[in-house]
Amino acid sequence: MTRILGIETSCDETSASVLTGEGNDVTLDSLVILSQDVHRVFGGVVPEIASRQHLTAIVPVVERALADANIGLADLDAIAVTHAPGLVGALLVGVSFAKALAFGRGIPTVGVHHMEGHLFATALEHRDAVPPFTALLVSGGHTLLLDVEAWGRYRLLGRTRDDAAGEAFDKVAKLLGLPYPGGPHVERLARTVESSRLRFARPMLRRNQQPGDVDYYDVSFSGLKTAVLQASRTATPDDHPHIARAFHDSLVETLVEKTARAVQQYGRTRVVLGGGVAGNKTLAAAMQQRVKRLGATVYAPSPRLATDNAAMIARAGLYHFEQGTRAPLDLNAFASLPIPGLVGA
Ligand code: KG4
Ligand code: ZN
Repeated sequence: MTRILGIETSCDETSASVLTGEGNDVTLDSLVILSQDVHRVFGGVVPEIASRQHLTAIVPVVERALADANIGLADLDAIAVTHAPGLVGALLVGVSFAKALAFGRGIPTVGVHHMEGHLFATALEHRDAVPPFTALLVSGGHTLLLDVEAWGRYRLLGRTRDDAAGEAFDKVAKLLGLPYPGGPHVERLARTVESSRLRFARPMLRRNQQPGDVDYYDVSFSGLKTAVLQASRTATPDDHPHIARAFHDSLVETLVEKTARAVQQYGRTRVVLGGGVAGNKTLAAAMQQRVKRLGATVYAPSPRLATDNAAMIARAGLYHFEQGTRAPLDLNAFASLPIPGLVGA
């Protein structure tokens, strides 16, 4: 049994979590997430403010996670920390803190890729959300479609050519005058109408696409965002739910179809969703509806574990710790880095 502390500071959540476990048998002992509300004022994350807030919050957040788990520093076997991708200044706070704490205690540090963390989040709530599975990771900064043969072996099938799914939600929210982060607000507004008076094109979705085509799995959302921009120019408030609904329908159908293609090609019976947008109930329901016909089940995290949190970092860190991974003392932070464990197409 390993007891591991996870730390996440890649964007605008300061989070710490304690997990105990072995293999896929893991207990979540505590999870503290402090969301930096200050960015709402600016309608987006201001990097330097995020870094400074992490610096103020990191000590109390970690202390609280230890207290909630009823343990002290001496009970920890390792510390997992997000070291990429994300805002470098924000990541550096978590990385420096984790290294100092681990060095002081004489325990190892494990660097975790934030998107690999999202891949592990659902397993904390659903025992069956373990490989092999098809994964759709949809966050504010990334949109990745992966075939996961085993933990640590990821085949990258598709990604966004431009905006990430969450980013598209946030931009559309801004155009419709909704608060940041916009995803939940756009989802709610879209649900207020049964169907839309408008229809936007499905980006990168053509009926005659074949496996091997460059756009078979990739997605693109910037055209969709432009369609929303144009529609919103002449819109009255009465049109807003219809714009939100048309955007939502187009984005969901695109993601669902691309994921279904992967389920079919690789013959998977499980689909795991991850990232902030995975907390979208409409997406999860549409996905389940679609892949049921292929004999697959969808596993989606609750909103608390879908958005950024340290429990998923501790969970991915535990896997790497068990594999013998130990970060060197010069572990660094990177704004972008490929997810580790990628296997050839
Ligand atoms: O994974 P996450 O917390 O942070 C990143 O790693 O980027 O994802 C945040 C994103 C934001 O863009 C937010 O608008 C979106 O997830 N989001 C949603 C929903 N809840 C959060 N998007 C659509 N529907 C939701 N219910
Ligand atoms: Zn994230």
